[in-house]
Amino acid sequence: MAIFTFLFLALGLCLVNEAATQKPNILLLLADDLGIGDIGCYGNTTIRTPNIDRLAREGVKLTQHIAAASVCTPSRAAFLTGRYPIRTGMAGHANGYTVLNFNAVSGGLPTNETTFAKILKEQGYSTGIIGKWHVGLNCNSRDDFCHHPLNHGFDYFYGTPLSLMNDCEVSRPSEVHNAFKNTLWFQAQVFIITVLTLIAGKKWKLISIPWKIIGISALCVSMYFMYWIVTYAFLPYWNCVVMRNFDVVEQPMDIERSAGQIVREAKAFINRNRDRPFLLLVSFLHIHTPHYTTKEFRGRSQHDLYGDNTEEMDGMIGQILESIDQGGLINNTLTYFASDHGGYLEGMDGSPHLKGSNGIYRGGKGMGGLEGGIRVPGILRWTGVLPANTEIDKPTSLMDIYTTVAKLGGGILPQDRIIDGKDLMPLLQGRVPNSDHEFMFHYCEEYLHAVRWQQTSSDTVWKIHYISPKFSPEGAGACYTSKLCACSGEMVIYHVPPLLYNLSNDLSENHPLPIDSELYNEVLQTVQKAVADHNATLNAVPQQLYKFNNLWDPRLQPCCGIFPFCWCKEENTKL
Ligand SMILES: *[C@@H]1O[C@H](CO)[C@@H](O)[C@H](O)[C@H]1NC(C)=O
Ligand SMILES: *[C@@H]1O[C@H](CO)[C@@H](O)[C@H](O)[C@H]1NC(C)=O
Repeated sequence: MAIFTFLFLALGLCLVNEAATQKPNILLLLADDLGIGDIGCYGNTTIRTPNIDRLAREGVKLTQHIAAASVCTPSRAAFLTGRYPIRTGMAGHANGYTVLNFNAVSGGLPTNETTFAKILKEQGYSTGIIGKWHVGLNCNSRDDFCHHPLNHGFDYFYGTPLSLMNDCEVSRPSEVHNAFKNTLWFQAQVFIITVLTLIAGKKWKLISIPWKIIGISALCVSMYFMYWIVTYAFLPYWNCVVMRNFDVVEQPMDIERSAGQIVREAKAFINRNRDRPFLLLVSFLHIHTPHYTTKEFRGRSQHDLYGDNTEEMDGMIGQILESIDQGGLINNTLTYFASDHGGYLEGMDGSPHLKGSNGIYRGGKGMGGLEGGIRVPGILRWTGVLPANTEIDKPTSLMDIYTTVAKLGGGILPQDRIIDGKDLMPLLQGRVPNSDHEFMFHYCEEYLHAVRWQQTSSDTVWKIHYISPKFSPEGAGACYTSKLCACSGEMVIYHVPPLLYNLSNDLSENHPLPIDSELYNEVLQTVQKAVADHNATLNAVPQQLYKFNNLWDPRLQPCCGIFPFCWCKEENTKL
């Protein structure tokens, strides 16, 4: 009898091993701006997300899953490369240079970075991305596509190179460069006053600058303003663009059609590739503002457009999962669901009904190292290989997906650079008790705001805050006046001495430990040492989101007509 049990077990192990050694399909589902408190299986009782909840029941739910940044571009760059954005030049810089602002900018994910798609493609995977990209497009001309998904290891792209924006729904107030617009308005006022002063000065013969010089200067400055006025007026055409591979197929984006198109494209990609290993990243436009929601889901939830939009995304996930589950791919597909960062607390147009929830965590999108902006949902399902209905509370990162899928696909990690992501499989399968992240560094743009330390000897996660945002108006828990909180300067608090939280029992970061305790000093010293070691690994790299790399440049504008007359619409294609 015992021998039969043994044989049976051995056979079982072999089967499991076989499943694990065969290259699995990888399906990555990434939401935009979705808070951890917006989902049923993370405790929301009023938004219905049955499909995401089912993934959690059938897989592993991570409850300390951390984004590398609390805004889109840097977080996505880190996800794709497994590296802190500070290493790739994608971290952002002060004064509103936090994400890529236009399609027609030269900044983006540097061509010499290796995405997980590139690694898996070399291992024979069919690699696709459907939806939002937001890590750059061109370098020097409108069709060099240096930062395009197809130049970063994907063989198929359908979606928007930038992001969904309020500008794509014409009735909404623009959301580009809010801080910069204030600067522009200030500059315009200074300009008008200067011109008036000069004219008055000339009239009363107080100054002797020739009229010619004044005229030419005024003309130049007016052209500068014209440039911005035209740019803003044409934003829906410049920024709301849909591409299929290298072709612009919709300009401006038909936002009403986009949800259905994304599902159709994702299902078609899965069906086309069912006989070979594939990697598909579905990068949803949901639930970024303007929360455009189709009729079927509008008015259905208890949370206004925000809830409707979230439920619509869950429905889209359900439809995509059908292709996996009913297509016999379920045992051979690793499915992952996450959000690029926490929910947006400022809300759409400042409306309290249209903002996300980050549950018990403090802060949200664009708030540096505060937990609410970086702790996101993270679920992995691989039937038969990963345990079902399991929760893991150890620190993990979105960057870990890089290392995990590279390894599962049989690839090797780049050896000439630091990869910050860790292989998740040992933790997910319960082979090790802790994650490999001893320290995690929480940046806001290029400023280090906080550090987390997983001290395994005491089973405690500590968090040190060096900098945190000042809310405006004060105490509001958000930065309504500038839409995104600042990362440096007058609108942040520099904590000297730094604040220390025991994150294991103070999840909401409400009770900093007394600074005169021995414990405080011990933890602070350990973390300071880790920061110094980390700093020693950083090299100076070109700032991709800064200044001229992030200003609209007409030569780089994707356009499906003859520039500046860019408009087109793809017929409903049968996929
Ligand atoms: C997946 O694996 C389970 C358990 O081994 C098996 O019952 C099921 O039929 C498999 N499904 C498919 C589609 O292969
Ligand atoms: C569910 O999400 C909505 C929208 O973000 C939020 O208003 C509500 O407070 C959440 N409910 C819970 C129990 O977290």
